[in-house]
Amino acid sequence: MTEIGLTSIRTTGDKIEIVNQLLLPHTVEFIEIDTIEKAHEAIKSMKIRGAPAIASLAALTFASHLSAALESTTPPDFLASSQALQSYVQPILDYLYTARPTAVNLGAATRRLTKTLQAGLDAGKDTRTVAHDLIAEGKAIDNEDVSRNRLMSKNGAEWLLEEVAKKGGQAEGLHVMTVCNTGSLATSGYGTALGLITHLHETGKLEKAYYTQSTPYHQGSRLTAFELQSLKIPSVMLCDSMVGSLFQHHNIAAVVVGADRIARNGDTANKIGTYNAAVLAARHQIPFIVVAPVSTVDLDIEDGDSIPIEHRPPLEACLVRGALYPFHTNAEGLKEQATVMVTPEGLTGIYNPSFDVTPAELITAIVTEKGVAVKEAGSARFDLGQVA
Ligand code: MRU
Repeated sequence: MTEIGLTSIRTTGDKIEIVNQLLLPHTVEFIEIDTIEKAHEAIKSMKIRGAPAIASLAALTFASHLSAALESTTPPDFLASSQALQSYVQPILDYLYTARPTAVNLGAATRRLTKTLQAGLDAGKDTRTVAHDLIAEGKAIDNEDVSRNRLMSKNGAEWLLEEVAKKGGQAEGLHVMTVCNTGSLATSGYGTALGLITHLHETGKLEKAYYTQSTPYHQGSRLTAFELQSLKIPSVMLCDSMVGSLFQHHNIAAVVVGADRIARNGDTANKIGTYNAAVLAARHQIPFIVVAPVSTVDLDIEDGDSIPIEHRPPLEACLVRGALYPFHTNAEGLKEQATVMVTPEGLTGIYNPSFDVTPAELITAIVTEKGVAVKEAGSARFDLGQVA
């Protein structure tokens, strides 16, 4: 089995560290996250990113924060009463939830913790026991991620192989394209869409993975490139503008992407550029597959129109960050990094949405750890009941 590459979060007891994804792939720097504010900042500034990974960091930081308070010699004031516990915990969860708006996993994690709090209090448990329940739940949110990723990757890969065979194709030597980064760095390990690609590779069915650069943050060229290289998966990078050309000239078996939020009808928010890839995939009759955990499905939202889309600061679209080339190493042996501006100084009028919504109509299958959903013949919407 392929080793899980560098993961986004490293824990030792209650100590939490994240790899600073702003410095990857040239510098691997771990940052300790020992306060709620640091977790919030790391998520907002995208030192950690990817829908499941940010939910895991929020849940783990919350658990470790409570754990540290319980271990202090003077009993924390929030244990004094149910009311005190609620008034202490809920604002922390609400604050963590505000770090980034599109990925529903973060909200799903904080809501799940709110439910644990409420259930414990309703059951008449003492406040210390409820606090321990919350710690256990926070850790469980992170823990569950890797096994469900392996499951959804297998579900998706097997479905794709059947689909290729059904159409009379060779269910091996596949070329599969992805967008953004959905691997170990975006999750607690293995990945979602990149997990599916890894599964195809592990089972000898993949010839090559193609991935877009995914500008302006370069999740593809910085992070997916790094993961595929370390997993030794044969791969090819392309600029976002080259997807149409790729589909015209190469035999692509499927496009597989992750998701930040999937509405009840299947409309899917994911990294900006996903919609372009879906339109082109439909034109070329290439199956377009979304791979995401159940926690990414938002059954409260009817369709994509209600998904909140984050717009990043305009400046981020003007800057490129990376190692100076030719490489310069500093006294510590690290490659010097720089941020350069690629636009004229003082440029105004910059469009920088971080996500787009791919309508269900353009999606062939939605895969979760529970299974694979496809649309009824002639329908433009999914019934996600079986997989969410
Ligand atoms: O802005 P990002 O890098 O957090 O966006 C990430 C994506 O769009 C991913 O495809 C999505 O979160 C799924 S990660 C398994």
